[in-house]
Amino acid sequence: MRAVTYDHYGPPDVLRVEEIPVPSPAANQVLVEIAATSVNLSDWEVLRGTPMYARIGGLRAPARRVLGSDIAGRVAAVGAGITRFSVGDEVYGDNLGLMGGFAEYAVAPESMLAHKPKQLTFAEASTLPQAGAIAFQGTSGARRGQRVLINGAGGGAGTFAIQLAKLSGAHVTGVDNAGKLGFMRELGADDVVDYRSQDFTRLEPYDLVLDLVAHRSVFAYRRALAPGGRYLCVGGTTRALLRVVTVGAALGRLTGRRLGVLVARQGPAQFEPVAERCVTGDVRIHIDRAFSLDEVPQALAYLGEGRVLGKIVVTP
Ligand SMILES: NC(=O)c1ccc[n+]([C@@H]2O[C@H](COP(=O)([O-])OP(=O)(O)OC[C@H]3O[C@@H](n4cnc5c(N)ncnc54)[C@H](OP(=O)(O)O)[C@@H]3O)[C@@H](O)[C@H]2O)c1
Repeated sequence: MRAVTYDHYGPPDVLRVEEIPVPSPAANQVLVEIAATSVNLSDWEVLRGTPMYARIGGLRAPARRVLGSDIAGRVAAVGAGITRFSVGDEVYGDNLGLMGGFAEYAVAPESMLAHKPKQLTFAEASTLPQAGAIAFQGTSGARRGQRVLINGAGGGAGTFAIQLAKLSGAHVTGVDNAGKLGFMRELGADDVVDYRSQDFTRLEPYDLVLDLVAHRSVFAYRRALAPGGRYLCVGGTTRALLRVVTVGAALGRLTGRRLGVLVARQGPAQFEPVAERCVTGDVRIHIDRAFSLDEVPQALAYLGEGRVLGKIVVTP
């Protein structure tokens, strides 16, 4: 099969397309013929090996030769012990542990996959597992009338988070670069902030801050919170994340706020509720562009340069 492989952390030009054997599903695994794989910031991070947490499992060289975790496609074979899927079923899921989605076939644990809703295309379904799960968990505490701020709101997880927070009845502020402000408004953000010209921690205090790209000090995040407010970071620099779990947690306790890192739980229970809202039309999926397998380096560069509105997908 054709697959996009790499052996060293680096820029997109370390990637190449080559023929490799089709993987065989082990017990409790499913072989998926890939129809679409969406690109996440986590793919970009594991490509470059930075932040440091992106090297978990492969300090010097990548642990997985083929990137791509948010897969959608048809079951091509099943390993021993599979009960929920049969050959031909249309499935989707987040294969962050094994990756392998930038290829014609990938194996994934049964527990990570769900049946694809018929109303969604493969490309649409592939946008949901990781970004939808982060948005679902990150906004689950949002309530009617609260002020919610989402930092990095114009990207994959952020576009779902804006819409889910709005559905909860909160007043939503989206922060991203100037080119994404109109897009965030279209998705329902009440206020938008360009991170290059304004520091959101110096605006008003918020009841919930969901940060997809943390890099500031915990004192800045504490300043952004109203009494009883909660700051949750999902991604960002290793330094910022470490400071949040150590000093931030203590600072929050001392000042009647909560600061912490959201380690997103994976699996269908976390993304199927978002898929249901996409099927009913309450939540919109925005696919900025589709790329072929040969164009995976360009797709990753496009994401890394910060030009993506919502999500991009690769269709082999
Ligand atoms: N905690 C967990 O369990 C877990 C699991 C999986 C993934 N993650 C993390 O979750 C995050 C989700 O990212 P995603 O896939 O939604 O990323 P994405 O699609 O790349 O979106 C990130 C957005 O943030 C913007 N941005 C960059 N720098 C910013 C800044 N300083 N201030 C405000 N916005 C900024 C980007 O725009 P520009 O770059 O164009 O400016 C982009 O629109 C990633 O950090 C990933 O590593 C966490």
